[in-house]
Amino acid sequence: MNINLWRRALARLHIFTKYLRMANNNSGFSSSFGAIMAAAGSAIGLGNIWRFPYICGKYGGGAAIIVYLLFVFLIGMVLLMSEFVIGRRTGHTPMKAYEELRPKHRNWRYVGLLGLITSFLILCIYFVISGWTLNYFWESVSGTLASIADGDFATHFAAFASSPVAPVVCLVIFAALTLVIILGGVQNGIEKVSKILMPILLVLVVLLCVRSLTLPGASKGLAYLFSPDFSQLTTEGVLAILGQSLFSLSVGMGVMIVYGSYLPKNDGIFKSAMWITVCDTAIAILAGVAIFPAVFASGQDPAGGPSLVFNVLPVVFNSMGQVGSMVFGGAFFLLLAVAALTSAISLLEALTAWGAEYGKKRSTSAILLSIILAALAVVAAYSYEGGLLNGFKPAGMSLFDWLDTLTGSYLPPICALLTIIFFGWFMKKEEIHDELSNHGVMKVAGFKVFYYFLVRFVAPVALIVCLVAPLIPAIKELIASIIS
Ligand code: PHE
Repeated sequence: MNINLWRRALARLHIFTKYLRMANNNSGFSSSFGAIMAAAGSAIGLGNIWRFPYICGKYGGGAAIIVYLLFVFLIGMVLLMSEFVIGRRTGHTPMKAYEELRPKHRNWRYVGLLGLITSFLILCIYFVISGWTLNYFWESVSGTLASIADGDFATHFAAFASSPVAPVVCLVIFAALTLVIILGGVQNGIEKVSKILMPILLVLVVLLCVRSLTLPGASKGLAYLFSPDFSQLTTEGVLAILGQSLFSLSVGMGVMIVYGSYLPKNDGIFKSAMWITVCDTAIAILAGVAIFPAVFASGQDPAGGPSLVFNVLPVVFNSMGQVGSMVFGGAFFLLLAVAALTSAISLLEALTAWGAEYGKKRSTSAILLSIILAALAVVAAYSYEGGLLNGFKPAGMSLFDWLDTLTGSYLPPICALLTIIFFGWFMKKEEIHDELSNHGVMKVAGFKVFYYFLVRFVAPVALIVCLVAPLIPAIKELIASIIS
């Protein structure tokens, strides 16, 4: 081989090993802005743009939004602050963090483990759906979607999602993108990418809102999204909304404990948490504003459920003509992919950091995890409607539906409840105060009383009620059958 080729190959190898070394060097976020962008990137994800609008549509529009806001600010944000405190105080990932804070009650570390398992399961389903968004982005900008007739989108989506090759290729590309960023390290990978992608996401969402609101008949969509219909708000709905509020803020899973351990020491935890909560909520509501007016304007069914964005929105974009479909459809699916990427990064980072804390190199941990996760995601993708493994339905649900239900409704509130009980009842008050006040530099006295009230009573009680309420009919039936 020619010597120049060798030289070039060696230079490439050098760049690659340098990159891997960056992955293994982890010194936390370098600035407050970077930290907030990264954590907001974790929070803003498919949950905001894909799930929030259809949950609002299903459970009473404005009624669901009111309950959501209560949950987000009274429970979600309190949990977010608590996770930041645990993470920054210890500088560890969840399992070790719990262990360090309560060395005599080592079993608490299993709460950390449950959170990490939840993150793992979320990432499996995340890879699948994010892969779909990549495909739809490509099909929008290449004009494929523009050539499909309005009535054929549901069939198009079903054919794509159940095909054995396309969804797998897409999810592997997405997983690889996530991995490459993690390999860049916390500052050079996650922080840098978030600082670029989050502003892009905001611009895209605002652009789509403006387009949607200027369509004829847009006001009907706004009325659907915001007018409260409490008759639709079932107990199952309240649990789904609670699950959504926790899922959306990325709390309960320990991901924010890991990001908390990267927070700059002099950042105000309340201020950071408030920024992240406000950004996350604003983007979720803006996503609803971008979607529903457009859905009504083109006479689509707003209660489209999980496939709303894939079946219904392309029809809306097509009604804007070929170029409109390419530009606005492309912008929308890019928005979805970007939001998904920054969230997937945080999930993979939490798992990677965990592996690294238990003796693996960060790079090895990230690569191994990505391979396992992508393999499981392929199984999940095949279990989707019409897929090769869709026939396998343990307890009547496909693997995909199991993952969606567990990670969407049940596991986040359970993990959140355990976290908040630990935080409110088992962690030392002085330690919490010390961390919230940045070692006495900031005044938090008045706020502290309110915060403890939320942490010790409001959040756990609300979480227990929401978890138990949907079980009441079954419990009643059981009692009735025992008595009779
Ligand atoms: N918050 C993300 C979303 O809204 C999902 C997520 C959950 C990310 C848990 C990280 C941890 O889509």
